[in-house]
This record gives sequence, C-alpha cells and structure tokens, in this order.
Amino acid sequence: MPDSSFCVVAMDGGAASGKSSTAKLVAARSHFLHVDTGAHYRALTAAALSKGLGPEEGDALDQFLETVELETAINGHDGLIRLNGRIPSKAEIRAENVNAAVSRFAALPAVRACVKTYQQEQEAVARAAGFRGLVMDGRDIGTVIFPHADLKVFLVADPAERAARRARDGQNDTISDRDHLDSTRDTAPLQAAADAVVIDNSHLSLEEVVERITTLLRERGF
Ligand code: CDP
Repeated sequence: MPDSSFCVVAMDGGAASGKSSTAKLVAARSHFLHVDTGAHYRALTAAALSKGLGPEEGDALDQFLETVELETAINGHDGLIRLNGRIPSKAEIRAENVNAAVSRFAALPAVRACVKTYQQEQEAVARAAGFRGLVMDGRDIGTVIFPHADLKVFLVADPAERAARRARDGQNDTISDRDHLDSTRDTAPLQAAADAVVIDNSHLSLEEVVERITTLLRERGF
C-alpha cells in the first residue's frame, strides 16, 4: 500500500489514442487534477510560429525559449498552461499549422527542457489546490517526467480507429507522421515504460477504459 494519500497517474500513448478524454474522466471521478502536456508543446509551437520562428531556427528559437514564463490556471479539474501571461485557446493550439509542426518542435532538447520542470511542478500545484491526485497525459510522462508515478497507463488503439476519431473531430491531422517522429526522436521518445499497464481501447468504450483504470487505482490502494 502506498504511504501517501496523493496519487500520480502517468498516461502516455500515441496521437488520438484517447489519452486526454480518458484522463479528463479519471480526474473528474477521482478528484484529480488533469494536465494535458500535449497542450504545453502545442502552446510553445503556436507562440514560436506566431513570431515567425520555425523548429530549425537555432539561436533565435533558444532566445525565444529563454523569455518564456509558464504558469498554471486551474479550471475545474484542468490545469491549463498560461504562457507569458496568456492562456492560448484550443483553436490556436489545435490549428493545422501547429498539428503539422508540433512534433518537430517537441523533438528539440531545448523545447523539452523548457517544459520539464514546469510539468514536474504540477504535482505541487495539484496538492496545493486540494486535489487527491494528478493525472498527466503525454508521451514521456511515465518514462521521464514521473518515472515513480503510482500508476502508469499506456493507451493504444488501431491506426484506423485513431484516424476515424480525428476525422469525427473535424481535424486535419497527420497522426501517423507525428507518431513516427515522436517514436524515433532521440530525446524522450514515445514509448511505454517497462512498468506501464498497456490498454488497447480500439474496441472499448471510454467508460470501460475509465473503469479499468479505477480498478487499477483501487488495487494500488487509492
Ligand atoms: O492530442 P494528440 O494525442 O494528437 O497530441 P497531443 O497530446 O496534443 O501532443 C501533440 C504533440 O506534442 C505530440 O505529437 C508530440 O510531438 C508532442 N508531445 C510530446 O512530445 N511529449 C508529450 N509529453 C506530449 C506531447
């Protein structure tokens, strides 16, 4: 049994694998804070692109990253990123140019270094705000950000099902290209932690996935 009453859940998986929807529902059911780290990379990408900076910009991009201040705004069970005093909108961070560039930004060590401490600090943010836990979704949460998480879940789904989900959302998003870039990069690649529980949700409802995670949490004493 864990000695702490606070629980950290790392939820990783590829693009459109259902991480955010699952994490949101787990957070609401268990009174955890949900933090979507994809939004962090998307917010940085949108901000850099709006300044005319691409992922190959080198020094200019490094200088921009040094000016970045990150804070968290809590909205219900969501911990939203505030970048240089502003919370970027969903439309901004899910725009087509961001979908197309985000994985190239996220592969840069300087970009990952810019958000790493901020992401690790979200545990303290959640504790201070009175949540019972933190559920963070991304690609490297169980491997790099919280290697000692109380529960690690790695979500997978059929490529066809994932593409259909994005199409249903009305989004133009080359998820297989992003998965390829995310899995083959040198720094913090997309991969399941050795101790992650892999859940294939291709043929499971959101409810069924959340039920499995709730059971795993109960088994771990939460
Ligand atoms: O919503 P979706 O699963 O399509 O993607 P996302 O979670 O919003 O993440 C967008 C992109 O950010 C990913 O394709 C990765 O390139 C990057 N990312 C990452 O490198 N590490 C994370 N922990 C989260 C996202």
